[in-house]
Amino acid sequence: MTRVDKQDQRTHTTHICCIGAGYVGGPTSAVISAKCSEITVTVVDKDAERIAAWNSDNLPVYEPGLDSLVKKQRTKNLLFSTDIKSAVDRAQMIILAVNTPSIAADTTLGSESPRGLQTDLRAVKQCAQMIAEVSLESKIVVGKSTVPCGTSRMVQEILDKNARGGVEFTVLSNPEFLSEGSAIQDLLFPDRVIIGGSAQDANSQWAQSELKWIYQHWVPEHKILTMDRWSSELAKLSSNAMLAQRVSSINSISAICEIVGADITQVAAGCGADSRVGSMFLRASLGFGGSCFHKDIASLVWLCQSLGLPEIAEYWRQVLAINGLQTKRFVSRILDTFASSPKGICGKRVACLGFSYKEGTGDTRNTPAADVCRELIRYGAHLSIFDPKVSEHHILEKLDTGADSVQICEDPYSAISESDAVIVLTAWAEFREIDWKR
Ligand code: NAI
Repeated sequence: MTRVDKQDQRTHTTHICCIGAGYVGGPTSAVISAKCSEITVTVVDKDAERIAAWNSDNLPVYEPGLDSLVKKQRTKNLLFSTDIKSAVDRAQMIILAVNTPSIAADTTLGSESPRGLQTDLRAVKQCAQMIAEVSLESKIVVGKSTVPCGTSRMVQEILDKNARGGVEFTVLSNPEFLSEGSAIQDLLFPDRVIIGGSAQDANSQWAQSELKWIYQHWVPEHKILTMDRWSSELAKLSSNAMLAQRVSSINSISAICEIVGADITQVAAGCGADSRVGSMFLRASLGFGGSCFHKDIASLVWLCQSLGLPEIAEYWRQVLAINGLQTKRFVSRILDTFASSPKGICGKRVACLGFSYKEGTGDTRNTPAADVCRELIRYGAHLSIFDPKVSEHHILEKLDTGADSVQICEDPYSAISESDAVIVLTAWAEFREIDWKR
């Protein structure tokens, strides 16, 4: 009997193990468990503190709707554990949602190497090795982490090389497109789900149909796209690159507006009203931050360079360069405002509203707010910072500075009182409600 025959006789997946209890692994697993009551989802992580937080009243990730969903599902079919090996062994399907940062990423925006940055795949490789060593039965391994093209094949090779006798693995690419701040809505109502496999391989086709069956519990079939693994991996990188490109495009136009006196909001409305352009991601800002856009474009630049496409690499590198420039221009404008005072901004107090990289999340990875704050501190400013979701500990750790130059405030009003200037660094809705007369 061939393996395909054996698999055809199998019942559907009843146990999923998600490795990586972060911004992707936690919310994704919570939604799968809610939509597939017959499946037990165990989320595992090597970070015991993070797992303890997922099992507590204070979840480690803030997302609208996540708290109640996790607390409800925890009493049913959603588990958080540090016992990685047992969970892997028990599962028929393993989701890889570990972090894949840039190697030696320089977070000083705009200053990355012209060659781009490679992606650090150590966590992915370690997981593949461990899965092969632990597994006593065949499994589907789903790559959800954002990875360079060819990673699924590499994972397949590691698994094949280290598998125990009689155990087979089928690796699928299933990139995640959720956006922090709206993760639960994005997971519940995705624009599309991509499942990358191999059309020539019957095992892969079966695995694709099994993952598709899971998504079909709540996603309409026409939104589930199957393709080869390379295309799936490249679709994810390209999608993020194009979104980031829109941010850099509108920010580049904002530089023109500031000189000629045009209103960037109106320019954006004028562009976005064209249905061919669309209005999303056309809000001028400090630039994009977060864990994804920067590293995914850097990875795309790296890919272009390695494929001998330097002009294409340069094209995408400019998206990063404009992003770094936007932060620098913002700081210059603040410094210019104080140019007439004898010591410039030195010794002045600046109220900073917001610190997370965007509204709706407490995530501070690559937040442009930190770049702005660090620059202002370097020029001798004192900062009063308020963010509704980022803790004092996180802000001070990120700025790597003592309490002398930075004061963390409980609300926007205490940050603003006694300040010489107010800057808005994150577009939290509550900042639009501030009573400026008060
Ligand atoms: P994260 O850093 O919040 O979580 C990753 C988790 O994996 C960490 O808790 C870490 O301890 C754990 N981990 C790493 N190596 C491990 C190992 N060997 N064994 C067990 N646990 C291990 O990362 P996040 O934001 O959830 O991202 C995960 C992946 O998803 C990345 O590839 C990212 O690019 C991608 N992604 C992230 C999105 C986001 O908005 N954060 C959106 C779409 C994709």
